[in-house]
Amino acid sequence: MFRCPAGATIARSLLFTAFSICALCIVCFAPAAQAGNTIERLDDAALRNADRDTANWLSHGRTYSEQRFSPLNQINDRNIRKLQLAWEFKTGQTRGHEATPIVADGVMYFTGAWSVIFAVNAVTGEMIWKHDPEVPKETAQKACCDVVNRGVAAYRERIYSATLDGRLLALDATTGKLEWEVVTVDRSKPYTVTGAPRIVKGKVIIGNGGAELGVRGYFSAYHATTGELVWRTYTVPGDPAAGFESEAMEKAAQTWSGGEWWKVGGGGTAWDSMAYDPELDLLYVGTGNGSPWSRHERSPGGGDNLYLSSILAVDPDDGVIQWHYQTTPGDTWDFTATQHMILADFTIEGETRKVIMQAPKNGFFYVLDRTDGTLVSAEKYVTVTWADRVDPETGRPVEVPGQDFKDGLAVVKPTPFGGHNWQPMSFSPKTGLVYIPAQEVLGVYRRGDDYEYRPGQWNTGTDFNVYSLLTRHVATGHLLAWDPIQQKEIWRHPYAMPWNGGTLATAGNLVFQGTADGRFLAFNAETGKQLWEDHAGTGVIAAPVTFLADGKQYVSIVAGWGGAFALAGGEAAKVSNVGTAGRVLTFALVDDSAPSNDAIEELLTAEGALQDGERLFHKYCAVCHGASGVAGGTSIPDLRRTTVPYSAFDVIVRQGTLATEGMPGFGQYLTPEGTRLIKDYLEHQATRPGAP
Ligand code: HEC
Repeated sequence: MFRCPAGATIARSLLFTAFSICALCIVCFAPAAQAGNTIERLDDAALRNADRDTANWLSHGRTYSEQRFSPLNQINDRNIRKLQLAWEFKTGQTRGHEATPIVADGVMYFTGAWSVIFAVNAVTGEMIWKHDPEVPKETAQKACCDVVNRGVAAYRERIYSATLDGRLLALDATTGKLEWEVVTVDRSKPYTVTGAPRIVKGKVIIGNGGAELGVRGYFSAYHATTGELVWRTYTVPGDPAAGFESEAMEKAAQTWSGGEWWKVGGGGTAWDSMAYDPELDLLYVGTGNGSPWSRHERSPGGGDNLYLSSILAVDPDDGVIQWHYQTTPGDTWDFTATQHMILADFTIEGETRKVIMQAPKNGFFYVLDRTDGTLVSAEKYVTVTWADRVDPETGRPVEVPGQDFKDGLAVVKPTPFGGHNWQPMSFSPKTGLVYIPAQEVLGVYRRGDDYEYRPGQWNTGTDFNVYSLLTRHVATGHLLAWDPIQQKEIWRHPYAMPWNGGTLATAGNLVFQGTADGRFLAFNAETGKQLWEDHAGTGVIAAPVTFLADGKQYVSIVAGWGGAFALAGGEAAKVSNVGTAGRVLTFALVDDSAPSNDAIEELLTAEGALQDGERLFHKYCAVCHGASGVAGGTSIPDLRRTTVPYSAFDVIVRQGTLATEGMPGFGQYLTPEGTRLIKDYLEHQATRPGAP
């Protein structure tokens, strides 16, 4: 049977006669003629089978299970040394870049800052289109954690993306033209949207943020074709006097007491993570912290305050909550459970378990049975002071007295920045390990002594003055390889700074991660040995992806320093020697066959002033200062980075004023014209991709 997108089904044998009769078929044939296009064919079945489409990266976490594991192995632990920059695309924006790109048929779709959406050629880096939703810059005041966006979703010829000011957009994937947009939030409240939408059964699911300032959390499903709201699920109860939207809200309200949380909003925002199990037909959504943070202000009578800091499993058809697991009952530390969730099937004690895994901010690594939300295990993956352990019987944390800063100050680990934040982790079914961008940052909490709800401002109920103490402590990060079955660390790679990028695991026995200090690294997935490194030119917080184009494997990373910690972390967030220009870097293996004599000759005889400067540099300077101006890391300066202006440069080089320091003079060989050409060449090298 031939299925016409316009709705008519025609038997194949009748096709040609039908063609002359059925005017609809003019419409039918056009798309059928280019049936090779993945985005056009990207329907529910294709999304369910995304794992088999190894060439593309079709949804946020590559598959519904959000493992961020690629079966590609052309680039592997044996040839990674030959990985080199293939292209770089500058977004023309600064501020945080947090997107995971979607890649299909050699086109990459991603977002920069301010919710701007780009489509670029994934092989050349050339821009195909750009869509700027023109978010009013005043919206920045509502954004707790920078003007960021974590990416788009693709479905049936469309690209879906959400904006900081709360809109959900549907764009034509080919042209970037807006097809529809809908406002998903109450704009009189400080809602923002930074998360990537997910597509489940013809619906676009999107949440929102704003719990720092004061909102009530929810997430919504919109019809992918029409943009109509299908359902909305609140995560915390509103004013009980106004009645409840659902049974779940009525039940949840019994766990809040003594306060008027609904005036501030209550929080529980679903601002990032989701996963979907098509077999169980359950959509998993992570919810955030309380609004205000301090439970003593929010719910002074105590209670768990459902469904803050929880994993919710909902029916994707109607949004009804099927089960919940609350990681931090009565959260008072901004311990969101919006962190990345991964689905996998494990054999534990001889039994096959369908699990969901999360390393939320609170410092425990959770493995839950995803059919019903029961706890399989939970252990500390970073230093945790607020709770002793998670009781295996009740599934509840055993809190350490005094850590809730009810009276006075509490020094706590982890912090609002989390033992791990939104930066996605990955899971390799080959090694059985989860790769977590972990961090150790100290938190200091105290109740604000003059707490009062101020609409439109930050309303945490805690005293931010004590945060100045933070900068006096060392904050660090590390890449943590974690065995989720044994619940223990297998290896770690330490970093001087926290707030490093998300991770990607591949069948090439590799783990990729970008760093806060502007590097992009690859590790042996089994042993943790660092195998490769390149410059990213700016701090990296996003997670890499990998794909095939024309049969060749590429690895891409969106880079751009920013996000909550970069803005608020003070001394600990200071990055030196890298810039703030947002970009995408794409890497591929270089051809290591020796270049032909002709090719070398052509390179050497190319015309132009820069080439002359290049020749002079390599004739006189490169033996000490490094080929192409790249210093090898000795004390001899990297001349791409020298701050010496041309006048002084010429004096040093021709008059030999630093000769006693080992820098010879070249007055006999070089004219001012020559030193000018060398300087121009070095300045040109400083603007090249990956330059410091
Ligand atoms: C024999 C090794 C050697 C060679 C060849 C050499 N340099 Fe140097 N250069 C040095 C050393 C060592 C220093 C650092 C001197 C110091 O400690 O002040 C230096 C410093 C400099 C500086 C000062 C940079 C700064 O930021 O302070 C400039 C400019 C410079 N070299 C340019 C050149 C140029 C241009 C050439 C080629 C025409 C060249 N050098 C060739 C060894 C060399």
